Amino acid sequence: MPSVFIQNKNPVSLRKRAVVTDRANARDVLAELLRRRKVDESLRIKSMDGRVFIPVRDGSDISGNMSLSEEEFEKRFFHSSPQSRIKRELEARGLATDGAPEKWTRFGSSVLIRLPEMDEGARHEFASVYAAVLRSSSVYNITGRVRGQFREPEVELVYGPGGDVAHTENGIRFNFDPAKIMFSPGNVNIRTSVREMDLDGKTVIDMFAGIGYFSLGIARYSRPARVHACEINPTSYGYLVRNIAANKLGDVIQPHLGDSRMVSPEIKADAIIMGNFLSFSYLPHALRRIRPGGIILLHDTVSSDMLAVYKYALYRRIGMHGWKGAVLEQKTVKSFAPHMWHIYVRVMVSDNRN
Ligand SMILES: C[S@@+](CC[C@H](N)C(=O)[O-])C[C@H]1O[C@@H](n2cnc3c(N)ncnc32)[C@H](O)[C@@H]1O
Repeated sequence: MPSVFIQNKNPVSLRKRAVVTDRANARDVLAELLRRRKVDESLRIKSMDGRVFIPVRDGSDISGNMSLSEEEFEKRFFHSSPQSRIKRELEARGLATDGAPEKWTRFGSSVLIRLPEMDEGARHEFASVYAAVLRSSSVYNITGRVRGQFREPEVELVYGPGGDVAHTENGIRFNFDPAKIMFSPGNVNIRTSVREMDLDGKTVIDMFAGIGYFSLGIARYSRPARVHACEINPTSYGYLVRNIAANKLGDVIQPHLGDSRMVSPEIKADAIIMGNFLSFSYLPHALRRIRPGGIILLHDTVSSDMLAVYKYALYRRIGMHGWKGAVLEQKTVKSFAPHMWHIYVRVMVSDNRN
């Protein structure tokens, strides 16, 4: 993307080496210098008395019949995309720009990128460019997928001290360590949509609470009487407890450490949140706790050809446990793999035995 030059009202001037040419030849000389990457593009080219002065990079070896001088130059100010600034900086350091990530995820003061294959030294050098341009203290390289029951990310710290970040989304503060905890940027709409749920005075169970992805939003915006947030991974649970306190939601959210299938079986709920792809197999446990007329919100992965008929599989599963389901909403959250979709379903259940 080309840089857009903006007028500098408060010029800063710098003394710099310059190639001097007459106006008639200026265009060709500039083109040649740009081709040879000699031009210092952070400074403004100046024109005086029929001559043009082109600032050149320090240490540039200017050969041929170009004449040189020392001149005062004004600094240029750019409005350019971070992607083009990253590319320029990588080039200036002699690093290959092929495959350089043009997308990243920012969590507080850290960014996550997916670097192409390269050795450790180059990874660090690349990451330092992203840190400088994106003004981030730490940079992580995504090396794999989110894995296992605890949904742990595969990332490596390639630049900076790492550690906990404070990430704000929808007015909610999430503390977590990106090296230990996944936080899916693609789920932002679903995390946001909990705002619209009217759970006034209701009891909610979050069976896969993590660091509070859904529990915090529900407690803040949907006016429930109580949210029981269950989390099996002690590391995530630690952040959950911290985040409840950081968002001052301790009166509403009750955290539980352990398997949501076992935690406080006596609790009955008006709504059950199942933010995990294990939802389908956990349905019997949710049905044991839901009140008639209650809502179950579940996430799953489905192939393209099953999208339209998913609800019938769900009805069958719900029916096996003596309940009747009515899907109120089914949404595609994001692509999960080729021809596979992450979906979100809101289903109301009523007791079929009466
Ligand atoms: C990572 S979250 C899902 C991501 C989230 N939906 C988002 O918006 O980014 C799923 C959580 O469920 C937890 N979990 C898995 N099995 C569990 C169980 N049986 N009981 C309680 N928590 C469980 C995992 O440890 C994990 O923290």
